[in-house]
Amino acid sequence: MHFHKFEKIWLTFGIGALVLFLVILGYGAFYLGTHPQSHGVTIDPQNVEAHEAFKPENLGLTKVDEDRYIVNVVASAFHYDFGVDADGNAINHIEIPKGATVLFQVVTKDVIHGFNIAGTNVNMMVEPGYISSMEVEMNQAAEFTLLCNEYCGIGHHMMYTTVEVYQ
Ligand code: CUA
Repeated sequence: MHFHKFEKIWLTFGIGALVLFLVILGYGAFYLGTHPQSHGVTIDPQNVEAHEAFKPENLGLTKVDEDRYIVNVVASAFHYDFGVDADGNAINHIEIPKGATVLFQVVTKDVIHGFNIAGTNVNMMVEPGYISSMEVEMNQAAEFTLLCNEYCGIGHHMMYTTVEVYQ
């Protein structure tokens, strides 16, 4: 079979580009740990409290084991509900020890919100009717901004809080 010279160049370019893209994809997935959130886990957005994880007393940060935590959050326009502290005040800041494995479980009661801890791999779309969850190892000690990155209305830019990972 005879290949024209230009055809060989074009084939080499095409196959090379495919290999390059697969390498980039593999680097992101396996080295950087980027992966999509859960999908297909449904919940009634009118009644998220009916789910064990989203009962008011189960919201916020919970330690489940040595170095293992769960963070349950109910998003709504325009804030994240982490539950209340012992004095009944709304919690708007969470602190996690460095190296901990954290399972974030987030739902929304109204419209689509985002759940992005800027500078980490935590970046989820939160859709009404679905539970968005992602497990991440928090390996960098810093104060991160948790923000909504899906436009959700007039107060969208006010929808943020902080997550501190301490040494
Ligand atoms: Cu919530 Cu934008």
